[in-house]
Amino acid sequence: MSLTIVRTVAELRATVGEWRRAGARVAVVPTMGALHEGHLSLVRAALAEADRVIVTLFVNPRQFNSAADLAAYPRTEISDAAKLAPLGAHVLYVPDGDQMYPDGFATTVSVSGVGEGLCGAFRPGHFDGVATVVAKLFLQTGADLAFFGEKDFQQLHVVRRMAQDLDIPVEIRPCATVREPNGLAMSSRNARLTDAERMTAPKLAAALFEAADRIAGGAPVDETLAKASARIVAAGFASIEYLELRAEDDLVPMHTFDRPARLLAAAWLGEIRLIDNVRVQPAD
Ligand code: PAF
Repeated sequence: MSLTIVRTVAELRATVGEWRRAGARVAVVPTMGALHEGHLSLVRAALAEADRVIVTLFVNPRQFNSAADLAAYPRTEISDAAKLAPLGAHVLYVPDGDQMYPDGFATTVSVSGVGEGLCGAFRPGHFDGVATVVAKLFLQTGADLAFFGEKDFQQLHVVRRMAQDLDIPVEIRPCATVREPNGLAMSSRNARLTDAERMTAPKLAAALFEAADRIAGGAPVDETLAKASARIVAAGFASIEYLELRAEDDLVPMHTFDRPARLLAAAWLGEIRLIDNVRVQPAD
């Protein structure tokens, strides 16, 4: 079966309806395009579990904080489709703004708790935009399974909470962050880094992994984070928005490492805001 491009909700529903009548299990992989190996790993995971896989491509204006960032976001539908077809994805759903937000659209889905702090504090309204569009994508696709990367760890929590609270019968599957060989977490924004910034960017992940090891080995949390921040700035990052230890299951802030945790960071390198996170595992 070849990749079909679908642009309207009506066509999507008709396609999924046929699949359902045939008893198929359906998965969705929501994206904003500019697909890289991280996205493709989600599609492979979806294909391993579902009979039919829908990849969505919608650069969602409601989750951007600045018009310039939205305008600069890469739009690469043709090459995205070319990457998906050989994998065996079934549908690339590419709605336009009118399909997603027709005239008179007036609803916002807002997730408190896990949506607050971290990126939620620095990007006001961002997670409202994410939760609203993902709720729509879940309802439009009617998918049984949805695949999200752990790189956007807070987003994963927001989406999971939203689906649970709204009784949307979709199972959320988190997938491990895919990294470049130098450790840099893959992101569509990496394409906008200069050559010099590409040399510096992996140092964020390196600082996180080192701090995670120290914390797991018993080093004091706040002191270790202060040292990691200094290391990130010394490497050439312009500023750090946050570098925090949070509980893995509910994102509650932690100052003592006493349960499974994630170390999460957002930092600016030139014009580009990078985010990353690593698991903090108890030492053996
Ligand atoms: O992670 C992303 O690319 C986006 O936030 C998502 C989940 C596709 C919603 O627009």
